[in-house]
Amino acid sequence: MPAAPLIDAYGRIHDNLRISVTDRCNIRCFYCMPETEVQFVPRAEILSFEEMERFARIAVTLGITKLRITGGEPLLRKDLHLLIRKLAAIPGVADLALTTNGVLLPQLAGPLYEAGLRRINIHLDTLDRERFLRITRRDDLDRVLEGIALCRRLGYHPIKINAVAVKNLTEPDIVPLARFGRENGLEVRFIEFMPLDAERRWDRGQVLLADEILEVLSRGIAPLEEIPDRDPRAPATEYRYADGLGRIGFIASVSRPFCLNCNRIRLTADGHLRYCLFAIEETDVKPLLRGGADDGQIEELIRAAVGGKWEGHEINSARFIPPPRPMYSIGG
Ligand code: 5AD
Ligand code: SF4
Repeated sequence: MPAAPLIDAYGRIHDNLRISVTDRCNIRCFYCMPETEVQFVPRAEILSFEEMERFARIAVTLGITKLRITGGEPLLRKDLHLLIRKLAAIPGVADLALTTNGVLLPQLAGPLYEAGLRRINIHLDTLDRERFLRITRRDDLDRVLEGIALCRRLGYHPIKINAVAVKNLTEPDIVPLARFGRENGLEVRFIEFMPLDAERRWDRGQVLLADEILEVLSRGIAPLEEIPDRDPRAPATEYRYADGLGRIGFIASVSRPFCLNCNRIRLTADGHLRYCLFAIEETDVKPLLRGGADDGQIEELIRAAVGGKWEGHEINSARFIPPPRPMYSIGG
């Protein structure tokens, strides 16, 4: 008999696991990392591929069917294709995806495709070299563009572009990025800037809201219409151009929180299980993974973490407390 699904106190069924494979990154986006003196987890604390695979296998027996690999920057993890191969082979994994900043794709898109990866999200906020440098503090735009082109040639599908939208900064990028997506068969998803930056500089005034972007796109490209939600549990609200050419998504955590439909859990690179991007508490799975615990004990721990999940983040309330870990150490 299959195990009972991972259901929380609010009736949400969890079928989506995000695994962060490293907290290191080769660029320094200001909305995520500090510019200098980044505190990385010591290597000995980082889970091995075997430990990640075991955790994923147990999670799959509990109803997880979707896996996403994140970072930091996941392509910095040596031999990542070996993990992809292991995860792609787990019976019951219907969907395996990766989120990357794209800088290393020119070298690694090929081996990852061969290992079985097909779905990829590439983080790109601007097509302007100066602004890319200002946002990421690195001059790597050309590599990312080359990586995207290579993914298209190899046949990755879908290829999605994640663009973090920041007020008084990325407005000039909205139309060029959306055009770039439309012309190249990529779905661009604008992500509202969330309070997950290491430097704690976020404030509400810096959030470029989904509605403002929608208006710019409708005026600058073509009218957009909301796609009737195909998967109500996907965090992105999706729109298509009324002329039929392409689509756009919004991950509007601030203006349209989607906690009600959340189906995700997260495993950090150092083996902590988190029931929410914004969670304050987390469960350290590493002692069990490394201490000879059997699968049943790990299963119990996953169930307990999901069982204790809160209703949702409260970014929009005065009670909101940013999580102790910034984005790069959670994995997005
Ligand atoms: N707010 C919103 N999105 C962010 N990302 C990183 N930091 C933030 C933030 N503070 C996004 C990046 C990356 C994904 C994992 O999270 O675009 O693609
Ligand atoms: Fe690196 Fe991603 Fe953070 Fe940018 S958002 S610094 S690419 S981990």
